[in-house]
Amino acid sequence: MDAHRVRIADFQERKRRGEKIAMLTAYDAAMAALLDRAGVDALLVGDSVGMVMLGYPTTLPVTLDAMVHHTAAVARGVHRAMVIADLPFMTYQASVEDAVRSAGRLIQEGGASAVKLEGGRPVVDAVRRLVEIGIPVMGHVGLQPQSIHQLGGYRKRGTQPREAEGILADAAALVSAGAFAIVLEAIPAELAARITARVNVPTIGIGAGPDCDGQILVSHDMLGMSGSHTPSFVKQYAQLANAISAATESYVSDVRAGRFPEVTAPAVEPIA
Ligand code: KIV
Repeated sequence: MDAHRVRIADFQERKRRGEKIAMLTAYDAAMAALLDRAGVDALLVGDSVGMVMLGYPTTLPVTLDAMVHHTAAVARGVHRAMVIADLPFMTYQASVEDAVRSAGRLIQEGGASAVKLEGGRPVVDAVRRLVEIGIPVMGHVGLQPQSIHQLGGYRKRGTQPREAEGILADAAALVSAGAFAIVLEAIPAELAARITARVNVPTIGIGAGPDCDGQILVSHDMLGMSGSHTPSFVKQYAQLANAISAATESYVSDVRAGRFPEVTAPAVEPIA
């Protein structure tokens, strides 16, 4: 996955060769360009945009129009990374037709190469149909933030044997329906390792331990830009929130003290 645009076949090849896949989220063209230039393999325009960028308490209020808008911005920013867009809440659960129309907009208007949806066995008909009509699908099992009201919190999933078996069955069903990769969110590392060994498509972990075929983080968490709570599994590779606050404080105090803009001496005309 070097010079050319990253494709679905590259994901399969990475798994075959045992090479890890590095993914991040992105929501706008400027950040997408920076992450792409740094060599990330794929960018997910996650419905986490609602919490990270739009100030919502959950991902549930995010609309398809908002996802199309942010996906198109990200697609304009990248040259190499694959762009995958989340299908937001209630744009694919009610019917296969909804799923097809919603995914079609993310591909056609948003410029995504693939879509992601949450859920296992309950969404396999939608996954199968999307793949049949040529839309690659990434699955997402374990913690599913769109089901937050039913789950009752953002806690780890699959810690009990029965729930773990359900997640394994969901992953297997997604692969049978044609998903090209599966996000494993907030599950025990041992369960993620079992799923990764069982399925023949890459698993992309977030809070799921080191044995997945790839990893994804919310870019704002990884860069230390999340104002609020950062999950414990996140490694912060920078502290940009502090850097932005410090730079802004310097600017404000310079403006108030008259140090910016700097006063330049008027040019003196030479005397002839
Ligand atoms: O919306 C999102 O950012 C996601 C990732 C956390 C996998 O689904």
